[in-house]
Amino acid sequence: MARVLSGVQPSGSLHLGNYLGAIRQWALDQFVADSFYCVVDLHGLTAEHDPGELRQRTLETAVGLLAAGLDPEVCTLFVQSHVHEHAELSWLLECTATFGELSRMTQFKDKSLGRESVRAGLFTYPALMAADILLYDADRVPVGEDQRQHLELTRDLALRFNSRYGETFVVPEAAIPKVAARVMDLQHPERKMSKSVESPLGTITILDSRDEIARKVRKAVTDTDGEVRYDPDRKPGLANLIELLAASTGRSVDEVVGGYTRYGPLKGDLAEALAGALAPVKARYEQLSADPASVAALLEKGAAKASAVASATLRRAQQAIGLLMPGSADR
Ligand code: AMP
Ligand code: TRP
Repeated sequence: MARVLSGVQPSGSLHLGNYLGAIRQWALDQFVADSFYCVVDLHGLTAEHDPGELRQRTLETAVGLLAAGLDPEVCTLFVQSHVHEHAELSWLLECTATFGELSRMTQFKDKSLGRESVRAGLFTYPALMAADILLYDADRVPVGEDQRQHLELTRDLALRFNSRYGETFVVPEAAIPKVAARVMDLQHPERKMSKSVESPLGTITILDSRDEIARKVRKAVTDTDGEVRYDPDRKPGLANLIELLAASTGRSVDEVVGGYTRYGPLKGDLAEALAGALAPVKARYEQLSADPASVAALLEKGAAKASAVASATLRRAQQAIGLLMPGSADR
């Protein structure tokens, strides 16, 4: 059985980009692969954060994943910091990566641009992400388009480590969806939908009500030429709506384009489709968040399952790279 791993940052309620770009796929993968999913709270320390809020959001993000369909009886769901091997392997991979390759990561460049103070962890972030993946011998990593470069780096690090120190890691592949791999902000269709951007009207979260969804879709920025055509360069706002409708109804982009001559009806159908897809997620979220203790307990169980796999891989890597194993005189 293939092994799958993916992660999401604990930035509060999940948005449509997370859901369509990644998490919907996780919920399908759990039934066909041995799947590990984590809330990456250590990654949440790479930019300014509030300690209490981080803790709260870590739990809320886990609740969001359960609401979106992850079944803890079927997959392994855990919090990254509960499995100490992530931080430990990350160091070995920081000593495998080079300053040059980390400097070329576009996410680092974007997030550090114009900032006076940048945490060193933001720079080494991709080594920690590589550790998340390599610890579980993952064959496949379902992510949105924005993570492609980090996955390439992970593959390079695995190959380099294996060739220097002997076969240790499985070299993973990115699994990026065909549509909705990069959901754009509804108000600023030139940038991706994200939780950190201050754009409440541009971001639809899994907890938005039917009315909020309808309002945001209605107000979504398009263009004035009025022609229904898929052209992400010239008509990014409309292209985004077309992709969202395709992704939320299981139709192709061409089918969606062929079905409309005006923006209004397309927006109306999109609002309906999104509200229909998200209503059960929102309902489950409300139910689950009423019982945080149960969620905490199942995260603890998940961490124990994850540790069993991660500790074996970490030991392999420590041995290969030349650390003296505790209690051993092996050379
Ligand atoms: P993050 O919230 O940045 O930790 O992202 C969690 C997952 O959602 C990753 O696989 C991302 O690639 C994916 N993702 C985040 N934002 C978007 C977006 N706007 N469109 C598509 N996928 C996204
Ligand atoms: N960097 C990813 C993001 O911002 C989150 C992440 C951390 C991740 N570790 C991972 C994704 C491991 C996939 C696999 O979206």
